[in-house]
Amino acid sequence: MSRIMFRTKCVAVALGLALLAGCPESQDTTSDPDGETSGFKIGMSQCNLGEPWRVQMNVDLKAAAKEHPEIQVIFKDAQNDTLKQRAHVEEFVSAGVDLLIISPKEAQPLTRPVAKVYQRGIPVIILDRAVIGDQYTCFIGGNNKKLGEAAGRWLAEKLGGKGKVVELMGLMTSSPGQDRHSGFEAAIKDHPGIDVIFKVDMKWLEPNARKEMESALARFPNIDAVFGHNDPGAHGAYLAAAAERREHEMLFIGIDALPQEGMMYVKKGILDASFEYPTGGREAIETALKILNGQDVPKLIELKSRVFTAENIDQGGQALE
Ligand code: FRU
Repeated sequence: MSRIMFRTKCVAVALGLALLAGCPESQDTTSDPDGETSGFKIGMSQCNLGEPWRVQMNVDLKAAAKEHPEIQVIFKDAQNDTLKQRAHVEEFVSAGVDLLIISPKEAQPLTRPVAKVYQRGIPVIILDRAVIGDQYTCFIGGNNKKLGEAAGRWLAEKLGGKGKVVELMGLMTSSPGQDRHSGFEAAIKDHPGIDVIFKVDMKWLEPNARKEMESALARFPNIDAVFGHNDPGAHGAYLAAAAERREHEMLFIGIDALPQEGMMYVKKGILDASFEYPTGGREAIETALKILNGQDVPKLIELKSRVFTAENIDQGGQALE
């Protein structure tokens, strides 16, 4: 076996093992195939790799970066630990990165460390979850408020304006959790017959969502729909309902719509709708290159979403306005 083949195999095995263990590599690099550090060095701080959506974000970043040998991307995984993520940001500065990309776990505790990087003159791209204020170069992500509104409108319409709803919210110290919730509330305000009987923070995690849904099922004999702020949450709720043979009593909707997750759940009839939440990985690399080459970029790059249902999934879903 050639050395290159052997190395490729080792990397594949290591990655496979890490994925199986549920805590993928905490640091790896991409591009710069010769190991040279000429060109630009980009630090990417990922808040966790425990959910398929974040694994996909890193895959998208790596695929885009591979097309540009002049950049090297160093990845760090904070494993859902805010303090670790703060340390990673500082480590990237010490390592002399030319640009920082960060998908922060929580808004408030990451705001100052990120602002400090930006104030040193290092460009910062914030991906998906926001920080507070404007001390960064560019934010890239889906519009979570609009997604929450779309989910609320979709449910209200499906339920004919009347029904009991469980809301399993994403981490409420992260901006997508806050915005999906406020968007959802704004949409159902117009439908007084929609009653949110149970809402709880499941922190984006499927096992939490499942446990919370077990409580909801025990308390409420009638539930018409579940809105999970992400597909893992909606799926956890479905599993809890299925264990009680109550899954056919209610609708399940979630957000993310990865092909191998939410879209597949819709195809299988597990979820009634999944709203797409693009990872922004490719856009982040394209924007980083523009910044590093001295071009202006907008402060906000908003990514578009689609909704997938049993009726439209074979036609590629339906774009949200
Ligand atoms: C993954 C995730 C996604 C969700 C996003 C929000 O960590 O929970 O499921 O859409 O983060 O930031």
